[in-house]
Amino acid sequence: MNKTYDAIVVGGGVIGGAIAFNLSKRGMKVLLLEKDRLAGKASGAAAGMLGAQAELDGESPLFQLARTSRALFGNLADELKMTSGVEIELVEKGMLRLALTERDLQEHQRISKIHKQNGETAELLTGKEARKREPALSNEVIGAMYLEKDGQVSAPQLSLGFLKSASALGCVIKEGLEVYSLHFSNGKITGVTTNKGDFMSSNVVVTGGAWSEKLLTKTGLQLNMYPVKGECFSVRTEAPLLTSTIFTPGCYLVPKKDGRIIVGATVLPNTFNQKVTLEGIFSLMENARKLVPSISQGEWEKAWTGIRPQTADGLPYLDEHPDYKGLFIATGHFRNGILLSPITGEVMADLIEGKSPAVDLSSFRLDRLTRNTNSIAR
Ligand code: FAD
Ligand code: GLY
Repeated sequence: MNKTYDAIVVGGGVIGGAIAFNLSKRGMKVLLLEKDRLAGKASGAAAGMLGAQAELDGESPLFQLARTSRALFGNLADELKMTSGVEIELVEKGMLRLALTERDLQEHQRISKIHKQNGETAELLTGKEARKREPALSNEVIGAMYLEKDGQVSAPQLSLGFLKSASALGCVIKEGLEVYSLHFSNGKITGVTTNKGDFMSSNVVVTGGAWSEKLLTKTGLQLNMYPVKGECFSVRTEAPLLTSTIFTPGCYLVPKKDGRIIVGATVLPNTFNQKVTLEGIFSLMENARKLVPSISQGEWEKAWTGIRPQTADGLPYLDEHPDYKGLFIATGHFRNGILLSPITGEVMADLIEGKSPAVDLSSFRLDRLTRNTNSIAR
């Protein structure tokens, strides 16, 4: 078996998939290694919102990256369908960020101003106008901000779409292979050791989500990351209840193309425990019923959890290791990895090819937060 590749991707989530797809598209011979199941962690658990405006502060450097990524989804949906036949279930019907208090209304005024300064639309609605748009909303809703460009996809389908498309373009994908350690020679990466042997490459990219730090600590780099558990559940309703995604910082409802509504999500830092708790589900049910009372008539489908990869300042790492040439890191996408996956795939492929990315990545460098225990300066 040939064990030498142009690039090895560690992790089979949406980020690893997006990078493997972009590298394969550029003609590189790629190996992707996943310790468990493809899209079996955060990427399979996500609600799939593309909430660049609903979820992110327009003043954050992440916002620019997010809206560039959001704009890529239309073409990407066609490209993945053509390459692998996978339908990512893109829905472009906007998001309604709801106000339940006077404070929420003030916050919407502030945010909408910033969005408009950034050249985006953000329409402020009264409660009555919001209910005209979405009749299932409760009278507790006193206002809303309509964000027409924030859409949604199926997160598991997007992840599989990237992975299957990469495979169709020649990428070798292996499940059940855990990367235990990285090999180096003269300050350059040379390959990886797994539970099923060694593989060689002069380019390795770590996309291990919340589990990334474990591998990199051995390289003298501490990422200062922590896991954040999230629980969700889904219901089916007889007739469609909602058109747009309904968003509040504490609870969201995402009407999927297949007729289900995903309700999410809890936020529990510092745990890798993936059990669904009744406490988590009760709190989501209460919040969801407050926003959309008729959700309680929905038929229960299932509940699940995922572990989000978070960094100390909330921004992802998209960079090359300061000490080891050819070792790249793309992780820490926290609550927005689905949204950020198309642009992450492109810019990481640029970095790996030695090209200058079209997007400014200075806010996502490793040296902003990490402690380099080898203390070799750049
Ligand atoms: P993961 O999906 O966790 O993938 C990492 C993979 O690497 C895993 O499969 C793991 O097994 C593998 N791995 C780790 N270490 C190794 C190793 N040593 N060897 C081999 N394999 C390894 N984002 C949005 O944009 N929109 C949303 O609506 C949204 N909703 C969310 C809802 C919930 C409940 C959760 C939990 C997350 C949500 N997110 C959302 C966030 C999004 O899911 C994550 O940011 C994204 O999935 C992270 O992708 P990833 O590939 O980095 O990590
Ligand atoms: N972005 C939604 C979540 O992380 O729950």
